[in-house]
Amino acid sequence: MIHVHDITKNFGSMTVLDNVNFSARGGEFLTIVGPNGAGKTTLIKIMATLVNATGGTVEIGGFDVKKSPEKVRGIIGVISHNTYLYNELTAGENLKFFGKMYAIPENDRRVDEVLGETGLADRKHDRVGTFSRGMKQRLSIARAILHKPAVLLLDEPYTGLDQQASASLESVLNSLTGSGITTIMISHDLKRSLALSDQVMILTSGTVRYHAPASKIADVAEFQALYERYTRN
Ligand SMILES: Nc1ncnc2c1ncn2[C@@H]1O[C@H](COP(=O)(O)OP(=O)(O)OP(=O)(O)O)[C@@H](O)[C@H]1O
Ligand SMILES: [Mg+2]
Repeated sequence: MIHVHDITKNFGSMTVLDNVNFSARGGEFLTIVGPNGAGKTTLIKIMATLVNATGGTVEIGGFDVKKSPEKVRGIIGVISHNTYLYNELTAGENLKFFGKMYAIPENDRRVDEVLGETGLADRKHDRVGTFSRGMKQRLSIARAILHKPAVLLLDEPYTGLDQQASASLESVLNSLTGSGITTIMISHDLKRSLALSDQVMILTSGTVRYHAPASKIADVAEFQALYERYTRN
């Protein structure tokens, strides 16, 4: 489903990603962890067609991100720090707007469906400007899954969420993965990463230092020890 092959990214003379390789099969959940500046966001942006790689290829659902960016955008949902939401519109209006952009069939019904899935049904008619951070985050998930993407790309979705909002995000992610969506998540939360993932990857200074099935790691303490070992330069 996802093939990242020899991805390299330079900004000027600085190499931010250095021959990154990995794959994820349909329905798999892969988490990338690593220190600040490791290149995680840059990698997700390349996968999301927002940044061009200097070298290498990314294929998602059979489409090359550089050659067929529109096709790739049609099958991915992206959640990042930019919520892509309009404060002056209501939750329902925001989603309807994106639904029209994607030409989603039966848009109104789909909007109600994703509002239900993200626990926002009763906030449909409230302006997003009045939402808390956690509610905005849920709505940005609703927006990201509106077109039923086969792949979800998440850049630190838990950042800034309180325990309740995190738990609710976790249950949304759990139900999505149950429905067969393929997910790549960046996180600094080792505990959650281990619980949600099929595969975990440690990226340090643009290099994959560790990549294994999550089932190979016994518990969070072991993951923490691996993280410390592989993030030392
Ligand atoms: N547009 C850009 N121009 C120049 N340098 C950039 C650009 N975007 C990112 N970088 C540099 O690339 C490196 C990796 O940045 P990136 O945002 O991918 O890291 P990250 O792993 O997501 O870090 P964090 O955990 O802090 O989010 C950093 O040194 C950053 O300064
Ligand atoms: Mg980042």
